[in-house]
Order: sequence, then C-alpha cells, then structure tokens
Amino acid sequence: MQLTATLILTALCSLVGSVPASVKIDRLVNSMGSGTLSRKDVARARQLKSGRARNDSVPIEDRTFSFFIPIQLGCPPATCKPLAVWARDAAHGTLKDNVILDTGSSNTWVGAQTSHPYIPTRCSKLTGNAVEVSYGSGFFAGTEYNDTLALANALTVQAQSIGAAQFARGFGEADGILGLGPEDLTEGTLTGPNAPSTMPTVSQNLGLTTFSIFMAPINSTAGDKGTLNFGPDTCPDSTQCIEAPHFTPVTTRSPASHFWGIDLVISYGDETILASSTNGKPNSGVVDSGTTLVILATDAFNLYMAATGATLDPNVGLLKLPTANFAGMKDLCFATGASRFCLTPDAQVWPTSLNTLIGGDTSSIYLITANSEELSGTGLDYILGQMFHERFLVTYDLSQNAVGLAKTPFTASTTNCGSLCA
Ligand SMILES: *[C@@H]1O[C@H](CO)[C@@H](O)[C@H](O)[C@H]1NC(C)=O
Ligand SMILES: *[C@@H]1O[C@H](CO)[C@@H](O)[C@H](O)[C@H]1NC(C)=O
Ligand SMILES: *[C@@H]1O[C@H](CO)[C@@H](O)[C@H](O)[C@H]1NC(C)=O
Repeated sequence: MQLTATLILTALCSLVGSVPASVKIDRLVNSMGSGTLSRKDVARARQLKSGRARNDSVPIEDRTFSFFIPIQLGCPPATCKPLAVWARDAAHGTLKDNVILDTGSSNTWVGAQTSHPYIPTRCSKLTGNAVEVSYGSGFFAGTEYNDTLALANALTVQAQSIGAAQFARGFGEADGILGLGPEDLTEGTLTGPNAPSTMPTVSQNLGLTTFSIFMAPINSTAGDKGTLNFGPDTCPDSTQCIEAPHFTPVTTRSPASHFWGIDLVISYGDETILASSTNGKPNSGVVDSGTTLVILATDAFNLYMAATGATLDPNVGLLKLPTANFAGMKDLCFATGASRFCLTPDAQVWPTSLNTLIGGDTSSIYLITANSEELSGTGLDYILGQMFHERFLVTYDLSQNAVGLAKTPFTASTTNCGSLCA
C-alpha cells in the first residue's frame, strides 16, 4: 500500500548571514512509503543487537544561526573545507568538517563549500546514486557514497550513506549537514538504478536511537559549547538539565508527524494564543534544531505581537519591542498536559549584543518569534528552533517515538537582553 502525503520540509529555516529578511517555510511534495512500522522495529532490533556502539556524547557549538557539530569522514579522515578554515583548524588540531546539526532533515552530506569538495578515501564506496535535497533556505545536489563517519572515538559508523555535494547554496560557512530527523524524510532524495527508498540516519546506524541536545544561550560570536548526547541517559548531569525530561509522543497529525512533531498549546501570560485546534482543525508543530527562531502560525503570532506591543521591523524581519515594554513582558509557554515549558521574557529576546548580525541597531530589542505566514490548522503551526533549544534540553527518542523536554540551568538565565532590559 502506498500512502501519499504532502511534506513540509522545514529543515534549514535558519537565518543565514546578515540578511535574514523573512523566515520562509518551503513546501515540497513528497511521497511517504509504506512500512514505517517495520522500519521502526528493524531499527529497534538493531539497537538491541548492537554491542558496538556505546553511550557517549559529542561536543557541539553554537554559531549564532546554526548548531555546528564536527564530523570526520573516510580512512584516514579527509576534510573538505576552505583552505583558510582548514589552516586555522589544523593549527588547533581539530581537522574536521563542521556540519549543521539538523533534526528537521535526515540526509547527511558534506562539500557545501563547492570549491572544496568531499575527498574520497579507501573507505569510500560510490553507490551509483545521485542525491538532491531542498531545504527551507538552501539546496544541494551531488553523489551518494557510503563512508566511515566518526563523531567521536566510540561513535563510528562504517557504512554511513553520505552525500558529496557538487552544488550547494545557502549553508553559510557550514561544510554540510548531519541530519537526525526521522528516516522517512530521506525518501525521494536518492535517484539511481538501485537507490534505496530511504536511508538510515547516523543515530540509527550507531544503534543509539535516543539522543539529546544541550546548548546554553549565547550572547557573543565566540559561540558557546553544547553537547549532543547519545544513549538512553539523555540527561547526563546537572550541568545540562535540572529535572527529568517530560516526554510527549510524536504527533499523528500530518505534516508535523513526519518530523519530530508534538502537540502543544501555546500561551502568552494568561492568554492562549494557539489552542489545540483551530475551527476543528488540530494544531501541531515540530521541534527542529535546524531552524534558528521560534516560528508561530500567523494568528498566534498576531496575538503575541498585540500582547507584547511589538511591531515588525521590516529591515530586520523580526519584531521590535519598545524598550519600555520589556518590564511588562510575560512568559511564552508551550504546554503538554500538565507540563509547561516557558520562555522567559529574556529568552524571547534576540541576544542584543548580536543585533548587528541581523541588521538591527544596538539600542533596540528584537524578539525571536517569527510569523509562519500561514493561519493555524495546517498541522505545522509552530517550530521550536535553536533559540528554544538554548533554554531546554531536548531529547529525541526514536525508540519511544517521543520528544522529551527538560529545564536546564540556563532556562531562566538573563543573558540575552543585557543592559537594555536592566
Ligand atoms: C548506557 O547507559 C545506560 C544507563 O545510563 C545503561 O543502562 C546501558 O547499559 C548503557 N549501554 C551501554 C551500551 O553502555
Ligand atoms: C552502502 O550501504 C548500504 C547499507 O549498509 C548497502 O546496502 C549498500 O550495498 C552499500 N553500497 C555500497 C556500494 O557499498
Ligand atoms: C553574556 O553572557 C554571559 C554569561 O554567559 C554573562 O556573564 C554576560 O554578562 C552576558 N552579557 C550581556 C551583555 O548580557
């Protein structure tokens, strides 16, 4: 049986470079193959059988618009990065490709800087398939290989399916993407005589299908260090979370169900700005480390804008809040059952020390919420991106098909707004 669904690929809905303008969600028509359940069972069996992979964690870095993760490909590992970056990283003994950690897409690939392509080594196996993926704000096309991929010493996959870009656009200084979304998002990305319909992700191939992302808020371009944790213990210590994760099942509402989608009710202060349904149509959204901001359906966004007193700054593409209004700001909360995950007023503010990176002025307060430009009820009514991950530890659990959220030591930190809000 063949199911057909319209997928909204939100993958890289990130602000790239200094011209964020508007945050667009691109649409792609894709088809969703049958056999999802069996593939899940196969993945689970693989996890249970695997004695090779161990619980481990990998350092990641916040580069303002994306989370970056270093990876190594090939034997011996070969990097494909611009010479200046290569020289800098070689001097620091970190000769690895830096790719975007994206839970909203599922292909893994390198060679985004097309002048510095993927370098095959003796471990590389040409599969004979072509690969092509469109993202919210980018695109790549190239050739698919199997290769050895290492995230850390204990986290190595021998035959990871990876793309070698021949053409890429829209990825800033990244060398590519590590896609940790659901496997079905790879459907339709390969073409060739023996192209598989989907490809397992790195976490599936590691046999570690539960992972979590921790990142502290940043307020400087020096970035900040975070962690990608693999293994069932998704809250490894109190530096990353201060409570046990609350798990919410992945939604059945399409299209959010094709991603790490969950059903949440959104409120600002006492006002519900997105109920569980709109005119009888259920609302749902996704958690996506590859989106920079927090995206809301137009009606929810308009209610939020009115309640905060912010106005859209057309030059920046974000809401600008009169400085005097900050003191009256309320929490922006995402609720599942009795559990609520709230962005404090400070967490709703774009780091003021980074205003110039988004084309803003240094004395204004910009907010991190953006308009999806669609009314609610589409089944993809919000996206909780990088700015949300900077306040909550997010656990992605393929075995339970659930998303876990937990407060971190930084949930209530007041480092974004700085002296403008004092
Ligand atoms: C991973 O950690 C969990 C609990 O922290 C433990 O039960 C499990 O045995 C560990 N697995 C491996 C492969 O080390
Ligand atoms: C690539 O890996 C997949 C999955 O392990 C395997 O089925 C396929 O035969 C491999 N292709 C090549 C060319 O080695
Ligand atoms: C930036 O964050 C650090 C903590 O990470 C804090 O000490 C510093 O005061 C913050 N800067 C501003 C301008 O808020």
